Amino acid sequence: MEQILDLIGNYVSEAFEMAGYDRELGRVTVSNRPDLCEYQCNGAMAGAKRYHKAPLQIAQEVAEHLEGCDAFDSVEAVKPGFLNLTLSGELLSGFLNEMKDDTRLGVPEAEVRKKIIIDYGGANVAKPLHVGHLRSAVIGESIKRILRYMGHETIGDVHLGDWGLQMGLIIAQLRSQKPDLVYFDESYDGEYPEEAPFTISELEQIYPEASRRSKEDEAFRAEALKATEQLQHGNRGYRAVWQHILDVSVEDLKKNYDSLDVSFELWKKESDAQPYIPGLVEYLKKEGYAHLDQGALVVDVAEESDTKKIPPCMILKSDGASLYNTTDLATIVMRMENWNPDHIIYVVDKRQDLYFTQVFRCARKTKLVGDSTELTFLGFGTMNGRDGKPFKTRDGGVMRLEMLISDINEEMLRKILENHETDQNEARDTAKTVALSAIKYGDLSNQASKDYIFDTDKFTSFEGNTGPYILYTMVRIKSILRRFMEESGLGRDELDSLVILPAADECEKSLGLTLTAFAPAVLQAAGELAPHKICGYIYELANQFNHFYHETKILTQEKEAQKESYIAQLSLTLRVLECGIDMLGFSAPEKM
Ligand code: ARG
Repeated sequence: MEQILDLIGNYVSEAFEMAGYDRELGRVTVSNRPDLCEYQCNGAMAGAKRYHKAPLQIAQEVAEHLEGCDAFDSVEAVKPGFLNLTLSGELLSGFLNEMKDDTRLGVPEAEVRKKIIIDYGGANVAKPLHVGHLRSAVIGESIKRILRYMGHETIGDVHLGDWGLQMGLIIAQLRSQKPDLVYFDESYDGEYPEEAPFTISELEQIYPEASRRSKEDEAFRAEALKATEQLQHGNRGYRAVWQHILDVSVEDLKKNYDSLDVSFELWKKESDAQPYIPGLVEYLKKEGYAHLDQGALVVDVAEESDTKKIPPCMILKSDGASLYNTTDLATIVMRMENWNPDHIIYVVDKRQDLYFTQVFRCARKTKLVGDSTELTFLGFGTMNGRDGKPFKTRDGGVMRLEMLISDINEEMLRKILENHETDQNEARDTAKTVALSAIKYGDLSNQASKDYIFDTDKFTSFEGNTGPYILYTMVRIKSILRRFMEESGLGRDELDSLVILPAADECEKSLGLTLTAFAPAVLQAAGELAPHKICGYIYELANQFNHFYHETKILTQEKEAQKESYIAQLSLTLRVLECGIDMLGFSAPEKM
C-alpha cells in the first residue's frame, strides 16, 4: 500500500507538471507548523533558481492547478514560497480504510530481505543477572522484533559469557569447599554424575565468595587462574563441573529472560567459538595480518584519519592465552561460516565502544567479513537510580534483575488493587503484564545511547509518557469495543469491515492523521535501530485517542453509520497500538 506522503505528493507533483515545472519538486512533508496546515511542499523554493522565478509565483501557479482537487480542503501559497496543504476528509478516510484492510497496517516490507544476527543479552554464566544486563535484553529484543516486522530474517544470539576467569574462580572455590568431589580426583576415569553438585542458589553464593576471596588471597587467585587455564585445556573433571555450572545457570537464565518476554533463537556461548581460534590464529599469521609485539600477537587497526589513538587488537597474550576479543573474532568466523549474515548488530554497554571499534576494524582488515556484511555496535548508556548513580538496592547492594522485577510487580499490584476491587489472582496476572510495560517502556522511551534514571514512581504511573498509560489507553479502547460488540452482536474481526467515514470534527481528524504516521515511524525506527521512535509514536497516538475520547460521544452516537465509523477507527487504533507494543516487547491485558 502506498505511503501517505507519496499519495499526497502525487497530486502536488501532477500540479507542478501541469504548471510547467519538474514533477520532482512536488515532494511533500509533514508540516513543521501544525498550527497552520497539515502538510507542506517546499518545491517552489527549490525551483526558484532553476526557473528564474520568484518562489511565491511558482507556488501560486501550482496552487491554481490544485484548485478544486478533491484531495485537499485547502491549498495555500504563502510567503516566501511554501505550499500549505490541508487534506480533505475523503482522502484521509480513504487512506484509513485501506490501512485497516492491510494486514501490515500500511508498513511496507523491506525491499531486500536481510539475514541479521542480533547479539544481545550477553549474560555471564554463574553470575547473577543484574540490572546492567536488563538494557541489553530489552533493547535487543525490541530491535529484533522491529527488524522482523520489516520482513528481515532475524537471529537473536544470547552470546553467554562462559569462558572467563569466573569459571576458574568457581571451580577453585568448589574444590576448596568440597575437595572430595570426584571431579577433583585426578586418577578417576569413570563417568561423572549427572546431577550437579550444587543448586542455583548455592552456585550464586559460590561466585561472589570466590570473587571476594581472590581479591584478598593471592594464592587463591593463582589457583583460580590455573583452574581457568586447565579448564580451557580440557581437564576432564573441570570440564564436567563447567558443564554442570552451565546447565544450572542456563536453566535459571531462561526463567529470567522468560519473565522479561525475551527469547533467543541461539544460545551460543563464548566457549562455542573456542574451536575456531587455532585456525583463526594460523590464518592471521599466514596472511601477514598479525605480528608479534613484545611477545604478544597483535593486529594493527589504527587508521590515518584517527583523531584518538586506537590501540592494536591483541589476539594472543605473550603466554599464548586468548582474550575477550579473540573470542569475539572467532565468533565472527563461526557466524560467517554457519549463517553468513548480511548484518550483525551488537547491543552492548557503550563503554565497550572502543573495544568494538578494534574488533570491527580487525575483522574488516583481515577479511573475516566481506564488504557485504555490515557490523553495527549499538552501545547503550547506564541505568541509574534517582540519585543519578548506577541503580542499587535500597541498602546499596547490587540490584538483581529478579528483585527489580518483583519490586515493580508488587508496586503495580498495589496500584491496581487500589483502583478497584478485583480478584487477587487476576490482579496478579494483570500486574505482571503492566509491570513489564513499565520496565520496558521506561527503558525504551529513551534514546538507547543515553544514560537514564530508573524512576519507579514515574515508570509505574498511569499518567504521562509511560507503559502503563499506553496499556490503560488500550484497555479503554478494548472496553468500548467490547460494549459495542455486545450491543451489535458483531465479532472482533467484523469490526474491521466497518467503514471509516470522513472525519466529523478536528479531533477525529487529528486521530486519523496520527494513524497515517504509523508506517513512517516504523520505517524510521527500523532504519535508525531506534525503538524510542516507536515509543514516541504510540505515545502521540494514545494522546490523540484520549483527546478524541473525551470530546466525542461514541457509543451514544445516534447515527448508526457514524458510530460504526468511530468503532472502525478505534479498532484500527487498537491494532496499531498492539503492533507497536509488540515491537517493544510487551502486551496489553484485557482489563486493568
Ligand atoms: N558478557 C559480556 C558482558 O557482560 C557482554 C557480551 C557482549 N557481546 C559480545 N559479543 N562481546 O560484558
